[in-house]
Amino acid sequence: MAQVDNEVKGKLVLITGASGGIGAAVARRLWSLGAHLVLTYSSSLDKILDFQKQLYEAFLNGQTAHDPGFFLEDLLFTHRCDLSSPTDIERLFATLQDMHGQSGPDILISNAGYGKRIPSILDISLDEFDKMLNINLRASFLLCKLAIPHMMQRNWGRIIFVSSIAAQGGGINGCHYAASKAGLTGLMKNLARKHAGQGITVNDVAPAMIGDTGMIPDAKFVEGTPGDVKNIPVGRLGTTDEVANVVEMLVKTGYMTGQSILLSGGLM
Ligand SMILES: NC(=O)c1ccc[n+]([C@@H]2O[C@H](COP(=O)([O-])OP(=O)(O)OC[C@H]3O[C@@H](n4cnc5c(N)ncnc54)[C@H](OP(=O)(O)O)[C@@H]3O)[C@@H](O)[C@H]2O)c1
Repeated sequence: MAQVDNEVKGKLVLITGASGGIGAAVARRLWSLGAHLVLTYSSSLDKILDFQKQLYEAFLNGQTAHDPGFFLEDLLFTHRCDLSSPTDIERLFATLQDMHGQSGPDILISNAGYGKRIPSILDISLDEFDKMLNINLRASFLLCKLAIPHMMQRNWGRIIFVSSIAAQGGGINGCHYAASKAGLTGLMKNLARKHAGQGITVNDVAPAMIGDTGMIPDAKFVEGTPGDVKNIPVGRLGTTDEVANVVEMLVKTGYMTGQSILLSGGLM
């Protein structure tokens, strides 16, 4: 019988888009649990450097669960990676091998996303459609393709996509965004079924209206849209910490796979 192993401490985690609101909250949480982190950013160098400093401070102040004896420089890496570029993704994995001696992460959080809001199909150009699909969907396919061989070898892995309520047709963006996120859920369900017997779980968290993010800085930003706080049953935006709660649960719950968890304050 397969063993129960839900340990996060000491696992190597790759989180894409850690320079953004949700990615940073997830990174902070897994760091506090003693994970080793590989974080990516694309354009926000200042943000990732500042964030890295915060994580260093938490470690040095004893606020993380890392075992003693590790050097900080061996526990946390940041890399620039444009996820629309297959070459960049391949380079990221080559670096992982060089720096960590692992061909892939134990835990993959495919979070980075592009969300330029164009509500009407009439205004969505083919270029915008392709760009959206490449960053939000194709990149996750490539990341999984490169990450899964290592997980199969270890007979252990966790993959979590950050999808969206838009996958179900809702949300404030257009059909290109919805299609990219629905595609992620299809990818997730197929991989979950194919790899469950190899100790690899695959799930997604599908948030809606999470504040303090580049996509939704605050409630004012969505006033007058379907995501207006007036329309959210719980009466407020979600927090990035609440997304991290769901990710933590998924990472620590190896019996759960193939699920899309809607985190939407009651929006359907
Ligand atoms: N906020 C919400 O309410 C909400 C709701 C549903 C789903 N989501 C999903 O949550 C995820 C995180 O978004 P967020 O809300 O935290 O927004 P955010 O703060 O704007 O973060 C977006 C992240 O994605 C990265 N990114 C964008 N384009 C990229 C590219 N071409 N290559 C590599 N990285 C790229 C950004 O990197 P740089 O800044 O370094 O360029 C940033 O780290 C996204 O997948 C989004 O679709 C968010």
